[in-house]
This record gives sequence, C-alpha cells and structure tokens, in this order.
Amino acid sequence: MGVEEGSYACRRLGVSDAASMHGLETSCFSLPWTSEQCALAFRRPSFAAFGLYSGEMLVAYISFYHVVDEMEILNLAVLPEERRKGHGRLLLSTALQAGRKMGIRKVWLEVREHNVPARALYASLGFTQSGRRKNYYRDPCEDAFILTASLS
Ligand SMILES: CC(C)(COP(=O)(O)OP(=O)(O)OC[C@H]1O[C@@H](n2cnc3c(N)ncnc32)[C@H](O)[C@@H]1OP(=O)(O)O)[C@@H](O)C(=O)NCCC(=O)NCCS
Repeated sequence: MGVEEGSYACRRLGVSDAASMHGLETSCFSLPWTSEQCALAFRRPSFAAFGLYSGEMLVAYISFYHVVDEMEILNLAVLPEERRKGHGRLLLSTALQAGRKMGIRKVWLEVREHNVPARALYASLGFTQSGRRKNYYRDPCEDAFILTASLS
C-alpha cells in the first residue's frame, strides 16, 4: 500500500526501514526499540508497520501484531516537530483499515495513563478503556491503560 498525502508518502514498511524506525523511536520514547529489535520485528509474520515519509525522512510510523482476528497496536510515533498535523490519525486509520482487510475484529493497545495526546487520539477513533496495569511502565513509572476497539 502506498498513498501520497501532500508532500508526504504513506507506505508499508520493511526491514530496510529499521534504522529510520529506530531513529524515530529515539526521538519519541524514553525506552526506544533498538535498531536490532526493529529489524528482528520484521521477521515475525504477525508484525506489520506503516510509515509516513517526507522525502528520505521517516516522520511517523505505526506498528502492530495481527493474529487471526486480533490486532495489537505496538507503537505509534510522530517526530515532535511534525505533531498536530494529522499524521497520527492518518497512520492509525491506515492500520485499522489494513486490519479490516485482514479480517481483524478486535484491536487493543496499552498507553501510559498520563499520555493525554495519545489517549485523545485513540478515543477519537473509537477506543475505550477495558483495563489497567498497575506500574506497568518504567522511566517514569506509570500505570498502563488497556484500550480496545471493535472493527466491524
Ligand atoms: C500521540 C501522537 C502519536 C499523536 O500524533 P499527532 O500526529 O500529533 O496527532 P494528530 O495530529 O493526528 O491528532 C489527532 C488527534 O489526537 C489528539 N491530540 C493530538 N495531540 C494532542 C495534544 N497535544 N493534546 C491533546 N490532544 C491531542 C487530538 O484529539 C487530535 O485531534 P484534533 O487535531 O482534531 O484535535 C504523538 O503525540 C506522539 O508521537 N507522541 C509521542 C509517542 C507516543 O506517545 N505514542 C503513543 C504511544 S501509545
């Protein structure tokens, strides 16, 4: 899948994007995936990722596992200077659309309790809270909210 959005191009990512994914992770998370973790992820048949490129620069990406009719969103990251332009919503919608085509019925993810931007984005696309994992995250220690959505 490849879609042009203005000067941005959205496409499915592969192992050759692993170094760019790692760079983006480093800009967005306190515990980023290493480039080895990024590369190894593509060996799993259940793993998939979509990214948004501006020229040679990966500005945003989303990754997920898909097993039978269930999808777990793993990571969604947008470069700090590229936020509030609709990239996060575009990528999440793209992943959900791909999930529908794969026959996915249930989507779930974990998000930090105090991650206001991410929780607002997920809520706007129909995710609701179905659980909480106490002290799940490190750096800083924080609860995880488990969010789920139905695709039908
Ligand atoms: C969460 C994140 C992916 C959002 O990406 P984004 O491209 O800025 O989001 P969008 O521009 O598509 O915004 C979509 C909606 O999300 C919500 N949102 C995004 N940023 C927000 C903010 N700073 N405050 C409140 N709501 C926000 C809004 O509902 C927004 O809709 P609106 O613009 O119509 O108000 C981005 O902030 C990010 O990369 N954060 C760091 C990594 C992270 O926390 N990932 C999620 C892990 S679970």
